[in-house]
Amino acid sequence: MEIVITDGADTSGRLAADAIVALLQRKPAAVLGLATGSSPLPIYDALAARHSAGEVSFAQARGFTLDEYVGLPADHPERYRTVIDTEFVSRVDFAPDAVQGPDGLADDIAAACASYEAAIAAAGGVDLQILGIGTDGHIGFNEPGSSLASRTRIKTLTKQTRIDNARFFGDQVDAVPTHCLTQGLATIMSARHIVLVASGTGKAEAVHHMAEGAVSAMWPATVLQHHPHVTVLVDQAAASRLQ
Ligand code: F6R
Repeated sequence: MEIVITDGADTSGRLAADAIVALLQRKPAAVLGLATGSSPLPIYDALAARHSAGEVSFAQARGFTLDEYVGLPADHPERYRTVIDTEFVSRVDFAPDAVQGPDGLADDIAAACASYEAAIAAAGGVDLQILGIGTDGHIGFNEPGSSLASRTRIKTLTKQTRIDNARFFGDQVDAVPTHCLTQGLATIMSARHIVLVASGTGKAEAVHHMAEGAVSAMWPATVLQHHPHVTVLVDQAAASRLQ
């Protein structure tokens, strides 16, 4: 695990964007793993700017989002499929349908999760996975207690995650869905390169456990210690508990 302490989230975003641009230059049909939430927004801003400047094209690339709330209506603005379209996909030149997410409205959840895993495998797997990290150490929505061998499945969001995400739902914790579909920890670990970004003191404990704690399902991001190519981009505050 390579840890880079940067002077802020914008710098982290630029560095992550550099890695993605370099990947697309050597492999235009690369498969990207896309996270939602606040942390990756500077990455998407940097990539949109570099696309506008004619420096990078996503025309042959594919994308797979990490997770999705269960039961949010198709037109809900906080549905992750909508969020990733707004924040990133619509600002660059992906081909139609090149970006997919787990179907949080599926009648048959188990079948939807299995077909999502199959779609990622059929695309050749993820070349570069963007990740944020929850204050409780989750990646994707693999909450504490998640199996380190898990694949895409339904999970219950912890109270802490629902509190953390209430800011996207008018500060109404009860408006945050209780369940999600998420790539599993083993799904995430199958990506060839993982780039995790975190900023702010709220992430410091999780970053400390991820990098320096014992590998444990209770701090799911610790599984990344077993991955051969992880780049962690953190600001000073998120790095403040590192020893
Ligand atoms: C989002 C996701 C989550 C977030 C995490 C941090 O797709 O998978 O793991 O990355 O909850 O969220 P932010 O970045 O909003 O602090």
